[in-house]
Parts: sequence; structure tokens; C-alpha cells
Amino acid sequence: MRNLRTTALSAIAAGAVVASALAGSTSPATAAPAPDLSVTNVTAHLQKLQDIATANGGNRATGRPGYKASLDYVKAKLDAAGYTTQVQTFSTSSGTSYNLVADWPGGDSEHVVMTGAHLDSVSAGPGINDNGTGSASVLEAALAWASSGNTPRNHLRFAWWGAEEQGLLGSNYYMRNLPTADKDRIDLYMNYDMVGSPNPGYFVYDDNAAGNGARDTMTAYYTSKGIPWEYIDVQGRSDHASFRSYGIPTTGMYSGGEDIKTSAQASKWGGTAGKAFDACYHRSCDTMSNINTTALDRNLDMIGYMVWLFADKDYGTSVPPTTPPAGSNLLGNPGFESGATVWTGTSGPITSNTGRPARTGSWKAWLGGNGSSSTENVSQQVSVPAGATAAKLSYWLRSDTAETGSTAYDTLKVQVISAGTTTTLRTFSNVGTSTTYTQYSQSLAAYAGKTVTVRFLATEDSSLQTSFVIDDTAVTTS
Ligand code: PHE
Ligand code: ZN
Ligand code: ZN
Repeated sequence: MRNLRTTALSAIAAGAVVASALAGSTSPATAAPAPDLSVTNVTAHLQKLQDIATANGGNRATGRPGYKASLDYVKAKLDAAGYTTQVQTFSTSSGTSYNLVADWPGGDSEHVVMTGAHLDSVSAGPGINDNGTGSASVLEAALAWASSGNTPRNHLRFAWWGAEEQGLLGSNYYMRNLPTADKDRIDLYMNYDMVGSPNPGYFVYDDNAAGNGARDTMTAYYTSKGIPWEYIDVQGRSDHASFRSYGIPTTGMYSGGEDIKTSAQASKWGGTAGKAFDACYHRSCDTMSNINTTALDRNLDMIGYMVWLFADKDYGTSVPPTTPPAGSNLLGNPGFESGATVWTGTSGPITSNTGRPARTGSWKAWLGGNGSSSTENVSQQVSVPAGATAAKLSYWLRSDTAETGSTAYDTLKVQVISAGTTTTLRTFSNVGTSTTYTQYSQSLAAYAGKTVTVRFLATEDSSLQTSFVIDDTAVTTS
């Protein structure tokens, strides 16, 4: 974002970049692929945090010995891996607390990419999901970076915050005491607070501040892995808040706390409807058994992906979002072969029923075909890259009907919903059906830079069926 080109570095505790990272001494980006990070290692870090809590009255809370012991554990690992670590001490009404800040030597000190997590628990329990999971995952990502041998384009900084549970005190203290010039050097702050909830959801922080490509990069990552996601407006509920209010782009993920999982959420994510995402949130039972290892593993890999990608992100030019490679399909599960994964809408249309053939594979979206009054749809959210003037939605359609004549009784609308406004790009009907699969495409150029929902919506009248069968969808740029 800000392109301050000062060469003098201010040597202020926890904000200063190590001297070897001179402004302008950028090495070429290595663009190394994101690794598969080890959830086994993360589980070992969590076990240490659990042991620390057990040995210190059952918690790792601010002002209690379990907090400082947690910080000492994380710091020792980072020091051994080659990080430059700094401990920032501050006082709270619950006692002394500490932030731990770790800089990876090197990278362009004018462009700092930060990743953080709060390290404290509440006093009621050991805080293994909240926020052992975020703390241990960020630690493991930092350690994996150190052993990768990569040279980052940007300067990487990691932080473990104290006293988040008292009201974001550590991260606020850090930002309040960071010189303006150093604040302005931070291009991105990513926050991970609860990433392994036992009945998990995948909530991506909805920070769409200008210049923030990270949110869309994260959602595109989940989509590419077939993991449905939802936005959450986390506002001031975690440590990204003071970065965000300063104007620094932020992103993050949250796997859910005390809120109840709905049946719609259970059908896309699995787990238990009617139950909290984390029934042990802020309780003594937030222990090693309060973790969903699959969610933890997926989110750990996501965190690694984000660190690796933004380590090499070119902030020297003013193209905010990471543009996916031209020609790649931005839709997940585009041929419906994974069933309803990633798609939302009415239940039923996505099927492998052989009453109508798929174009490829065996699954497709069979809309209509009821011969009675009905409305059915399948939809998917997609972020159209900024500057994608050739973005288009394509799909193959096969249709047949029991209607006759030239009146449109049954219709299929191809729609795009953007900021609450629905636009119909094309309408098919019972007039002119064809049982030969034909490919159609509609431009999405008007939606460049926006996150929209594409929807196929079928409406049938009270009698005589019309079947609209969609297969092999794509949103592409060129
Ligand atoms: N910050 C909350 C806690 O530690 C957890 C949370 C994170 C809630 C993100 C909402 C969104 O208790
Ligand atoms: Zn908490
Ligand atoms: Zn938390």
C-alpha cells in the first residue's frame, strides 16, 4: 500500500527491521511453492501448551505463569530457527503481559508482511483451540519458512500477542508504540484466532479494504481445495482490529466459537447442526480433545500458502489482488462430480441420476423436470479478478420438454448477483429445447474486481415438465 521510500531505519524495539534488511536490497522473488505443513508438528506444539497449562494451574492466562511459559516455548523454537525475536512487556489490570515479535532476516524492509495470533488463554482453561491452534499453526509456518531456504521478496514478521482476552491489549500496545514510518511499512496483517474448532466452520474475515487482495486469495484457496467458506464480519473481535483501523489491509480465518452451527452449515461442512462450533469455548474443557484435526490441518496448509504467496508478492506495483493465472477455472467442483460441494441453492438438482445423461463424468445439475410448479437453483460465489476484462461464465446445457407451442412456460435463467442486485444474463425456456449438449458463455467483464454469485435458476409452471441439465461450468479470464 504505502510506498514510503525512506532509507533510514528507526531502531525501535519490536518495530525495527534487522539491519541486514536494507531498503532497496530486494532479491528476486523465489516464488517457491507453498509446502504441505506438518499437522503432527502442530499437535506436538499444542501438547506442549497443554502441558504448560497443566503444570501451571490449568491455564495460560494473562498474569499467570502459564502465559510466560508459553511465550518462552515459542521464543526458544524461533530463536533456534534463526529468527530475530523481541519480547515487548506491558502491564494490564490482570498483571504483566508480553508480546513476542519475530523477524525473519532479509526481504525488503519497506514491505512487511505480518502474520499473528494471540497466545494467551482465558483463566478458565488451557485454551488449546482458543488460541493454541492459531499460535501453534503460525509457529509451525514460521519454522517451516526458516527451514525452506527461501529468500523472500518482502520482509516477514510473525507475532504472538498477549492479553487478547482482556480486550486486544497486546496488539493495541504494539501498534500504539510502533513509529508511524514502521506502521506504514506493513502491507498486510493476517490473523489466526481459533483454526481447529471441534465442530468447525470456515469463516474468512470480510475485510474488503482497498488494496487488500489477501481476502480473495484466501477464499480462492479454499475454493480450489473444495472447502466451502463464508465471510464473517469480525469487526473488533480479534487482533487484526488495530491494524485495520490504522488502514492496513488484514485478513484471517476463524473456525467458530460459541455460535450454533445451522443445518445448512452442517450440510456443507459436516459436523453437528444445533451445536456450537466450539462448545468448550472459554471453558476448562478447551483441551487437547477439543480439536478437529482435519480442520486444523486444512487451515495450517492455508496459513502456509498465504505466508509463502505474500512473502513474494510484488507491493512495488499497484495491482492489489493476486490475479489467478489466465485460463484457470475459478469455479470449484465445476462439473458437479463432487456432488453439492461448493455449490449452494435448493437441494436436489445436483445428481448422478441416469434419467438424463451428464456431458462428462456422471454428475450434473438437473434443474426442473418436475411437471409441477417449482423453483430450483444452483449457485456459487466467485471473485472475478480486478482488470479481468475477458472474464466469462461458460456452461454446457441440454434441455427437453413435454410442453408444445411457442409460449415460454418453463424457464432457466442464468444470473449473476452482485451487491444484492440480480442480473439475468440469459434466459432459456421450453421453446427451442435441444437434447444435444451445447456450450454457452456470458461475459462477466462488468464484474471485474467483485465477488459475485453465479446462479442457474429454473422455474416450472404447474404441468408438463421441462428439464434443463447443466454440466461443465467455468469462470475463466484470458
Ligand atoms: N477473539 C475471540 C476470542 O479469543 C475469538 C474470535 C475470533 C471471535 C474471531 C470472533 C472472531 O475469544
Ligand atoms: Zn478467547
Ligand atoms: Zn481467541
